[in-house]
Amino acid sequence: MTKEILDSDVYKLMDDIQDTSLIYPDYYLNPFHAYDEGNLSWLAAAEAEAATMSMVRRAIPDASSLDEANQIVRGNWLQAIDQHHTMYSGGTMIEDILDVGCSVGVSTRYLADKYPSARVTGLDLSPYFLSVAKFKEMNSSPRKNPISWKHAKGEDTSLPSQSFDIVSISYVMHECPTKAIVNLVKEAFRILRPGGTLAITDNSPKSKILQELSPVLFTLMKSTEPFLDEYYLTDIEATIKEAGFVNVQTILTDPRHRTVTATVPR
Ligand SMILES: C[S@@+](CC[C@H](N)C(=O)[O-])C[C@H]1O[C@@H](n2cnc3c(N)ncnc32)[C@H](O)[C@@H]1O
Repeated sequence: MTKEILDSDVYKLMDDIQDTSLIYPDYYLNPFHAYDEGNLSWLAAAEAEAATMSMVRRAIPDASSLDEANQIVRGNWLQAIDQHHTMYSGGTMIEDILDVGCSVGVSTRYLADKYPSARVTGLDLSPYFLSVAKFKEMNSSPRKNPISWKHAKGEDTSLPSQSFDIVSISYVMHECPTKAIVNLVKEAFRILRPGGTLAITDNSPKSKILQELSPVLFTLMKSTEPFLDEYYLTDIEATIKEAGFVNVQTILTDPRHRTVTATVPR
């Protein structure tokens, strides 16, 4: 998979996608996932989808295939979003969806497949990841509503206020310091419409499997995730409530991950 991307003409897409005036937050310029340039490299972008697959496989080790593991991890996450929106949105249609920290577009494609009549935007700080996301979409079957890709900070998107029905932030928060987590939540509140749904999915501090990871493995994981401690010490539900959201719900959507959903008051 990595070779296919690296040998392709994905590089040509960068100019169109990259916002050259964007100033990266300092925390984003740390080495991540054992890449010296963090998420700002072609190798990290080319390996990202395979890394996502192994994350899903590890979450459901007993699944007989990657598809089965995805059905649980991604299926339960989508179901949590759908159930929350149905219960609390007051019947508002899902017309606009933003996937913050979309990486190479895996979560964005799941959202677009689930809600084919919605306009879906994938937003990320890495223009390398966004180029790969766009490249993969260009080489897949066309959609009625093509996905848009935006190079921006999730905590300062420059998108209009009250312009989305769903803001999804999946597997992003564990890569961020507390200050960024708080600002990502505040920005989601600003850009969601009244009745709109925020969905954050990430490692669950209550997961027995994560709690019981061997110290060696945990230390290894922390060595490639500089803000993991800050993530675990941040009370996500309280942060969401403080930003003004209501109906804050947390579900363990698979043995390792929780999905926290909340509504902007109508
Ligand atoms: C693990 S990946 C997300 C995976 C993807 N959402 C999924 O579910 O498969 C985390 C992504 O968040 C992005 N990211 C981290 N901090 C961000 C921020 N403040 N604003 C936008 N994107 C950010 C990174 O560039 C990276 O692509």
